[in-house]
Amino acid sequence: MRFPFLHLGLCLGLAAGLFVSTVPAAPVVEDQARLSLDSVFSPELSRHGMVVSEEELASRVGAEILQQGGNAVDAAVAVGFALAVVLPEAGNLGGGGFMLVHLAEAKKTIAIDYRETAPAQARTDMYLDESGAVDKERLRYSHQSVAVPGTVAGLSHALARYGSMPLKQVIEPAVKLAEQGFVLKPAHIDTLKRTHEHFAQSEASHRIFLRPDGTDFEFGDRLVQKDLAWTLSQIRDHGPEAFYQGEIAERLVADMQAHDGLISREDLKNYRVVEREPVRGQYRGYEVASMPPPSSGGVHLIQLLNILEAYPIADLGLNSAESLHVMTEAMKLAYADRSKHLGDPDFVKVPLAGLASKAYAEKLRERISRNRATPSEKIQPGQPAKYESPQTTHFSVMDSKGNAVSNTYTLNFSYGTGITAQGTGILLNNQMDDFSAKPGEANAYGLIGDKANAIEPKKRPLSSMSPTIVFKDGKPYMVLGSPGGSTIITVVLQTLMNVLDHGLNIQAASSMPRIHHQWQPDLLRVEEGMSIDTVKLLKAKGHNVRYARPLGTTESILWDGKVFQGAADPRRQGGGAVGY
Ligand code: DON
Repeated sequence: MRFPFLHLGLCLGLAAGLFVSTVPAAPVVEDQARLSLDSVFSPELSRHGMVVSEEELASRVGAEILQQGGNAVDAAVAVGFALAVVLPEAGNLGGGGFMLVHLAEAKKTIAIDYRETAPAQARTDMYLDESGAVDKERLRYSHQSVAVPGTVAGLSHALARYGSMPLKQVIEPAVKLAEQGFVLKPAHIDTLKRTHEHFAQSEASHRIFLRPDGTDFEFGDRLVQKDLAWTLSQIRDHGPEAFYQGEIAERLVADMQAHDGLISREDLKNYRVVEREPVRGQYRGYEVASMPPPSSGGVHLIQLLNILEAYPIADLGLNSAESLHVMTEAMKLAYADRSKHLGDPDFVKVPLAGLASKAYAEKLRERISRNRATPSEKIQPGQPAKYESPQTTHFSVMDSKGNAVSNTYTLNFSYGTGITAQGTGILLNNQMDDFSAKPGEANAYGLIGDKANAIEPKKRPLSSMSPTIVFKDGKPYMVLGSPGGSTIITVVLQTLMNVLDHGLNIQAASSMPRIHHQWQPDLLRVEEGMSIDTVKLLKAKGHNVRYARPLGTTESILWDGKVFQGAADPRRQGGGAVGY
């Protein structure tokens, strides 16, 4: 049985009732409370394998591949293609992402970087108008917003290297879903409505994502994507080359040329997937592997864990003001460092080892007061040791052999630019906004960047996506990740700490109210359901607290040594943990 979707308000209300903050620090969670919490939030269970994604239809596709004898990579690639159809707001062929693959037999974890790249014609100041201001419309909602897509190359690369099935077999369910259509759920209707204006400006999007009379789809309508079915069948029949050099490339480039876009035939032909070493850390005896630059996610996740490891988080209590205070202070320091030090490692030197070191965390910890919030304006990026040597969606898969895949990919905004390339059904990303278009100017997620993340031809924009695998005794223990722009890192951090520090099961850990601070703006966002007492205590320490919209949507698996526990985040209805 799938975890029954509880309305978010109910989940959070329950959580708020169970956890009341106390000062001074003392264990606040009685065993009885822990037991009832675990029974309210029960994960999906399976002995053989588990697939968790934001759309149950896609999770089912993955579980069927496992059942047919495929490994975690086969299933993950099938889910990746299926989500491009059934979760068009974030699943994609026209975007990019990151995949962490753990191979049990080889005892190896590989980080596959299929992030988009800036087109060769891109220039550092390309989005500035005559007055020197950033032209946000051109940056976010035009053919010039689009970076060279990496998804088709990334999924095909993973399958060819680490999968066991032919592309035809894993892509076929996606072709069928696009051709035959699927019934839209409230979550789809909601995001489609919110993108109406942008769809209306793109002839191809208008035709696909609005009803023929130009009105919005309603609950129960069927979304059929014939052009996308054609694109997927081209990839099925001719491989990824169809996308980067063949018929699909022709159509993409024609669409670019018709609308002042920058992506050329050469850009597509030259796109390369990069395999990287995951960034690694230790937290309370567990090993954490996550995505290295050009994502900032992994390194700051580990930096945060290093800082927080010295605090008695479990004793301070789940979502108590005391624990949230130190977590917030650590977040400010990490995001300040992000603004200065992080960028594409093929273009800038990222002090990765310094940022992820325990010694640097110790130095940063000295800057944290247990009693008072330090205003962000008093915090500057730190000086880690130099480098010693040279609507996004997440899904997780584990198979019975101990292989694991943690994948986050994105068009950036929900439906990216909202523009579909004519004749392809492919929604175009607006990943160029993840660059720092002007030093000190915030991007759509309020993130500030500098030279390290300036636009350069062929460079990859900095990301926060954090596909993560936690190991216990050398074996994958948790697989997790989330969408949420700048909040991804802190969402993954809290889900992980809810299990490792507070002993919650993976579903409860995914359901608890969350917080987020990113240094600038100096704002501590808390989700509804966080105890009002906790909020009062945080304010008394000097935090600028605001209740915020839901933070992130995790899709996680925990292997407890006997059983796979899958947890789809209740923040998005329609997600699915499917075991077999
Ligand atoms: O790579 C990044 O960090 C962003 N493009 C992710 C955007 C995102 O998570 C949007 N989803 N809610």
